[in-house]
Amino acid sequence: MSNKRIIRFGIIGCGLMGKEFASAVGRWCHLGGLDFEPRITAVCDPNKAAADWFADNVGTVKQVTADYQDLLKSDDVDAIYCAVPHHLHASLYVDIIQSGKHLLGEKPFGIDLEANRRILEAIKANPDVLVRCSSEFPFFPGAFQIVKWVNEGRFGQLIDVEAGFWHSSDLDPRKPINWKRQIKTNGEYGCMGDLGMHVLHLPLRFGWQPLNVRALLSNVMPKRPGSDGQPADCETWDNAILATEFDHEATRVPMTLSTKRIAPGNANTWFIRINGTKLSAHFSTKESSTLRYLPYEPGGDQAWHVLDTPHVSAYPSITGHIFEFGFSDAILQMWAAFCDELCRPDNMSQPFTCATPTEAAQSHAVFTAALESHSKTQVVSVNYDTI
Ligand SMILES: NC(=O)c1ccc[n+]([C@@H]2O[C@H](COP(=O)([O-])OP(=O)(O)OC[C@H]3O[C@@H](n4cnc5c(N)ncnc54)[C@H](O)[C@@H]3O)[C@@H](O)[C@H]2O)c1
Repeated sequence: MSNKRIIRFGIIGCGLMGKEFASAVGRWCHLGGLDFEPRITAVCDPNKAAADWFADNVGTVKQVTADYQDLLKSDDVDAIYCAVPHHLHASLYVDIIQSGKHLLGEKPFGIDLEANRRILEAIKANPDVLVRCSSEFPFFPGAFQIVKWVNEGRFGQLIDVEAGFWHSSDLDPRKPINWKRQIKTNGEYGCMGDLGMHVLHLPLRFGWQPLNVRALLSNVMPKRPGSDGQPADCETWDNAILATEFDHEATRVPMTLSTKRIAPGNANTWFIRINGTKLSAHFSTKESSTLRYLPYEPGGDQAWHVLDTPHVSAYPSITGHIFEFGFSDAILQMWAAFCDELCRPDNMSQPFTCATPTEAAQSHAVFTAALESHSKTQVVSVNYDTI
């Protein structure tokens, strides 16, 4: 008999990401040695077809509703995964937190700085509720190894850092518009709000807070087919390149952060490159099993090592070490981190937590400064005062 703690989840937003969570729960047996397990008991989506998918595919679902308040009132729900368009984040997240349910919310954690502040206030008023922000890419084995090397101080003096998240399907001008391309639902941040938390998660976790930013934002495709097939305004920034600096020990370090919806040939490329005087390392999901690193001793060779990473991340799994790791594996690992922290807030079985609300708020400070920088064509200081 199993003595696992069952964490009963409600899902609000049964679209692309809501279904990814259902799939992760369905393959929880991939993870070994955990004494906790999520169970989806309730789902909410005003789109009946989206909610019905859960009724058809997830046998543990007892409640299907179009009104998220039903989940917040339910005694059968301990925690919520909320994956809805950005204009709904503040009102829904605040209600979830005030109901006392734990929350893994999707990025960007509010459509803008003001919405993010409302979420932070609710968190401060409800300190017993665990609130975390979704960001799965650091759980890829190559990225996870880089996290360990940073924590061990292996890089020496930092030379520079580049991180980015690039998509390319928007290169096709026939791709219809959706809520992520409209300011009222996605927000002024455009691609930064959609992709930027993924890029900033590790730099912020390492304490590499951008001090200032010079942003170059571009709207490559200002029109896309609307729901009637006619050209509709595609208002949001497609691509953003942020030149930033942070302080590390006695050094001011340049860091380039890029979020692109139109990076030709890149379906879903998340990457981080850190150059240091003792070690340099590069990981990209484009070569998801490959970790490149260059250890350096003065006078020694500058030779890149190319390592096929084993299937090893934060939590042990039944998958053989020789097998490749992918997006759904990273999602599964992120969910294990959230459930682990929920069960043992001070004693997780490994130390890497999901992105925190503070990190999400810091990302808002960077995006807000980036908007100002672009409009003024100036370098702008990033203001973290209110976090
Ligand atoms: N972590 C990641 O890798 C990742 C990837 C894609 C999207 N996201 C984020 O996930 C969130 C959702 O994105 P998506 O791609 O799943 O969008 P989606 O459009 O596929 O799904 C959103 C769902 O929310 C539903 N919804 C709208 N209003 C609602 C309400 N009041 N109550 C309940 N449900 C409601 C919609 O009907 C839809 O089914 C966004 O914040 C997005 O930035 C994260």
